[in-house]
Amino acid sequence: LDNGLALTPTMGWLHWERFMCNINCDKDPDNCISEKLYMQMADVMVKEGWKDAGYEYVCIDDCWPSHDRDAKGRLQADPRRFPGGIKKLADYVHSKGLKLGIYGDVGKNTCAGYPGSLGYYEVDAQTFADWGVDLLKFDGCYMNWTLLGEGYVNMSKALNKTGKSILYSCEWPLYEWPYQKVSDEHKEYLFRYNSLPDETIRLMLCYIKEHFCTSSFPVAGPGGWNDPDMLVIGNFGLSHDQQESQMALWAIMAAPLLMSNDLRNICPRSKKLLQNKLIIDISQDSLGKQGSLTGKFDSFEIWERPLSEKRLAAAVLNKQEIGGPRGFVIRAIPGWKMCDPKCNVTQILPEYKEMGVQTPKSNIVLSVNPSGTALLTITPLSSDFTEMYKLRW
Ligand code: GLA
Repeated sequence: LDNGLALTPTMGWLHWERFMCNINCDKDPDNCISEKLYMQMADVMVKEGWKDAGYEYVCIDDCWPSHDRDAKGRLQADPRRFPGGIKKLADYVHSKGLKLGIYGDVGKNTCAGYPGSLGYYEVDAQTFADWGVDLLKFDGCYMNWTLLGEGYVNMSKALNKTGKSILYSCEWPLYEWPYQKVSDEHKEYLFRYNSLPDETIRLMLCYIKEHFCTSSFPVAGPGGWNDPDMLVIGNFGLSHDQQESQMALWAIMAAPLLMSNDLRNICPRSKKLLQNKLIIDISQDSLGKQGSLTGKFDSFEIWERPLSEKRLAAAVLNKQEIGGPRGFVIRAIPGWKMCDPKCNVTQILPEYKEMGVQTPKSNIVLSVNPSGTALLTITPLSSDFTEMYKLRW
């Protein structure tokens, strides 16, 4: 939607994958879905460099509302867990220079059984706007799929009608995906296409290829991005190599970088990866093109994304999950043709390395760990440039 938002893939934090529907604040006060959780996350985001790295949205997922609407039919936050209410929480998050996201559902109920917005699109959009909410994640549970499109479009209109800029992050194509492909119509209204729970890298990639890369990537661009779901880096499910693969691939795919982890207690290596400026620069590149799978050799997949200034980002993923590191000859990257006559190569993952000027014949072998990824940027050095270089030196 062309409303000036999401010009680059959204960056922030979302509670779902890590904290799920934990509403037991008596037994687990530090991890339950309560205003305290978001306030603490906002504090840490400012103090620990997340905000400076570009992570901006603090997002509430399911299980925040009370089961009953108020006398005027408005949603209200659970009063025990959000004693200050959402408006006060939004004010707090804004006072830190961050933005607040909230969660709703196009159908009768949210996926966890809380009140959905069916029949209340305008009321709920206005309530979110009055509270100062900056992003809405809009789920698709408890809805007849033939009415999904209408529902998502109507909520989009209701959000616009409030006159407030609210980023619309929704799961329309995910719920429709068995029936039809992502189309330009989705692009016009939507931002968030897909959703994927915390899974192994294998499932992640299978899903991306089948439903994300093949059908939806042409419609991505400034204003609307495909979303293969939360970054789960810093949690328990992925090895460090797999975490690097997730970060590299999300950057290549111009996917939103919405972390779902515990920023109050995250291992330094995962933190460094999530805050890696060079990877974030790829994610946020101003050309705004989504990358895709461009080649397969042996156990390797090559994913490439065109960047501004004619540069290219290339991720070489070793899909073999057993054994040891495997070698990959760098010139087998399909985009390597830009290295004729010369290019400059920087390796970003697994470790930073200036590889310097390369040619079509370069014989460098990358070493890629099982389920890990080597991430590179390649800058062409044109013949003009080479001539100039010769004259000067
Ligand atoms: C769905 C979504 C998840 C999360 C839950 C909440 O499963 O795909 O991302 O929002 O609902 O109940």
